[in-house]
This record gives sequence, structure tokens and C-alpha cells, in this order.
Amino acid sequence: MKLWGGRFTKSTNELVDEYTASITFDQKLALYDIQGSLAHVEMLRVCQIINNQDAHAIQEGLLKVLEKIKSGEAHLSEEHEDIHMNVEKLLIDEIGSVGGKLHTGRSRNDQVALDMRLYLRDALIRISTLLVNVEKALLNQAKQNIDTILPGYTHLQRAQPVRLAHHLLAYTFMFQRDIERVCDSWKRVNLSPLGAGALAGTTFPIDRNYVAQKLNFDGICPNSLDAVSDRDFVVEFLSNASLISMHLSRLCEELIQWSSAEFNFIELDDAFCTGSSMMPQKKNPDVAELVRGKTGRVYGNLMSLLTTLKGLPLAYNKDMQEDKEGMFDTVETLEGALALFAPMIDTMEVKKENMYEAVVKDYSNATDLADYLVGKDIPFREAHAIVGQIVLSCIQQKKYLLDLTLEQYQEYCPHIEKDIYQVLDPKAVVDARDVDGGPAKNRVLDQMDIAEDLIQTNLGWIKEKKKQVEVLF
Ligand code: ARG
Repeated sequence: MKLWGGRFTKSTNELVDEYTASITFDQKLALYDIQGSLAHVEMLRVCQIINNQDAHAIQEGLLKVLEKIKSGEAHLSEEHEDIHMNVEKLLIDEIGSVGGKLHTGRSRNDQVALDMRLYLRDALIRISTLLVNVEKALLNQAKQNIDTILPGYTHLQRAQPVRLAHHLLAYTFMFQRDIERVCDSWKRVNLSPLGAGALAGTTFPIDRNYVAQKLNFDGICPNSLDAVSDRDFVVEFLSNASLISMHLSRLCEELIQWSSAEFNFIELDDAFCTGSSMMPQKKNPDVAELVRGKTGRVYGNLMSLLTTLKGLPLAYNKDMQEDKEGMFDTVETLEGALALFAPMIDTMEVKKENMYEAVVKDYSNATDLADYLVGKDIPFREAHAIVGQIVLSCIQQKKYLLDLTLEQYQEYCPHIEKDIYQVLDPKAVVDARDVDGGPAKNRVLDQMDIAEDLIQTNLGWIKEKKKQVEVLF
């Protein structure tokens, strides 16, 4: 007999049970479901909707059910559709018909919305923690590579030299924005929908704020229809996760390129690479490739939920059960990638000489020659044209700018003096870009200080939120 079987004269088709059940995946919510129920029962007791004795029996029973689910002893069945009804059924099996009082003044619609929020709260904390670890790993490598110079690229063509520290810090600031977005989403996740009932609240004199406080929410969802229909907070999470994945994927792409023989800028540690079953010489950057590849499913989960929600009338519709697998998958995919990422960055070997060589054997100091001419009062556009001709002739002669004699320079422009050789030195080129946010040494050190402070702020936020979600039961 189904928990809702009263108005039915027939049992459901077996295929219907299988098709509509969510227990195979929403059992991940078991802990949160029981936490929510414990708070709900306590509120029912305090509001004198059920008596002390019944409340106590239900609370004890719920804790036993939790233990049985954790140990694998509990039988979760598709017949009881989802985690909510399975828990209720297990509770009734455990303590008898008094267990049936648990669902007073509540619907699975507000219950599932609550469980999702409780689950996501924990996930946000775990993901921010992992992101901070990635930031720390990048910052550590940046510190070790403050004087490592490599070509900066535009259009994947060598453009102007930068410090490796500057390049790595670019990613640190991307991940910082990702963390800030996760933190900002907290205030929309951390509201309690419980008490919204199926859609229109309840006739019982419940206290929604009491439940919210018990579960350490910052407040309650103000409108019952919205409370049970809102999955924006899941979409927002999936969108933030997509940005994180996109940033990870871009960095992966660079790591993959840099570890190729063509670049030969880094070597990823053996522990983060795999071999080929056929070609004995191969060492493949599989982890980086897979992180890049899994970006597809993270984007897919976002698109999937946006599409599911599009056009749904108020309030709850069964379509919304489709919110879960994508969310779980994204949380797990992201956690998997982030956990590997920090140690992969930490352990990578930087081939400083090869990076420097790529700067020396190139024309990435050409802008500096043009800027030098501007210093001689030549308009930038003319300077650009002169340097263009110099570079062209160098390419034809298989020479670099530093190989030209002063006489050769003066044929193009009599104002060029012998200080040009210092100006065009790659290290001088980098340090000449002494502007806020630029690659000059002190400017990169400033960025490191900023990153360091932001990491401390993130850690403070994580500590505070961890305390806030500490399980009370
Ligand atoms: N398993 C359902 C879901 O995840 C729970 C809510 C069901 N509500 C209902 N009225 N059928 O969406």
C-alpha cells in the first residue's frame, strides 16, 4: 500500500513505479531529509501541534532510520518512490503509526526544496575550500617563478614577454571571482522553504522561522508558491560551476600545450599523467584533458535544468524532479577536478630556460623598440611602421632585434642610440611595464599581496559558514 494510496483503486503499473521513482539518486539527500524532519518535528512540538511524547518517539525513530540508512541496513525501494517517502515508511516500520504524524503540515514539495538547499550549502563550502586550495597552489608556483620569463601570447602568437608568476596570477584572480560568486549565491541558497506546504502553506499554526533558525538558515522564503517552485538557486549553482569549469578548462589547455614537445615549457608530474597502451614513449596529460573534457557535462547540466524549468506553470511540477541528477553530477564532477588540480599545479616542473629561450628567439620586444622611438618624439604610428620594416628585414636575414648592429639600426632611424640594447633585453622589457596590474616585478609582487589577502578573506568566510551549517542533531 502506497503512503498516498487512499484514493486509488488499483496499484500502479510496475513500469510507472520504476519510471517515476527518484530513490536511486535522491538517496544522496537522506541525511538532509532527516535533519529537516528533526527540525520540523521539534517545531510541531513547540507549536503544540503534536505532543511531547509523540515528538520524542519520532525524533528517536528518525535517528534510528538514519543509522540504518548509513549502515546500508535500510531497504530503500522504488515502491516508495523517493527518499522522503522511504524515510517516512522506515520510520513507521520503526515506531509504528505515530510515525505518520511526522508529515503534519508539510508536503514533499517544500521538503524536497529544503533538502536541496541543505545539500547545496555543504557543497558550496566544499567547493570553495577546494577552490582556495587551487588558488594557493597557483600562488605558490607564482612565488617560485617571480623571475621566470616566458612569452605572453595573443592569437597564440608570441606577443610580449611576461613573468610566469603574472600568468599564473591571472588564473588566481579568475578563481577568486568564482569563489566570490559562490559566496554571493549563499544568501539565495540559505533560506528555508519549509512551511510552504504543497503550495499554499498549511492550516496548522506552524512557526516557519523556528524551523529556519533550527537549521541555521538566514531566513525564510517569503512566498509559498515561489518557495516550492524556485530552482533558481540550483541554476545559479550550475552556472557558477560552468564558469569554474571554463576557467579550469582554459588552464588545462595551456598545461597540455605547454607539456607538448613543441612548447616544452613544463613537465607535469608522473603522478598526474598516464601512459599509452601501444606507444611505450608516451606520457599523456590525461587529467588535464579530462578536466577540459568534463566541462561539457557541466555546461550540459546547466542547459538541461534551464530547459526543464522553461515554461513550467506554478507551482510544483514533477518535471522538477529532474533537477537532482545534474546537480549531483556537477558537484561530483567539480569536486573531482578541483581535488586533483591543486596537487597537479603544485608538482609541475617549470622549464625556466625553455621559456626564456622562447622569449629570446623572438620579436616580442618589438613594441619596446617602437616605444623607444616614441621617446625620440616620433609619432607612435610612424614608429610602428619603422619597426615593422626592421622586423621584416630581420626575419629575412634570420636575425633577432638584439643581433642588429647600431649602424644597421641607424639606417632605419638615426635617433637610435646604443642604449637600445638594454631597452630590448627581455628582462628590461618586462620590467618596463611598470603599471598597476602589469608584469614588472613590483607590480607582480603587489598582485601576490592582493591574492594573499583575498585567500585569507575566503578562508574566513569558509570558517564562518562551516560553523553555521554544523549539524545540530
Ligand atoms: N521526488 C520528488 C522530487 O524530487 C519530491 C517531490 C514530489 N512531490 C510531489 N508532489 N509528487 O521532485
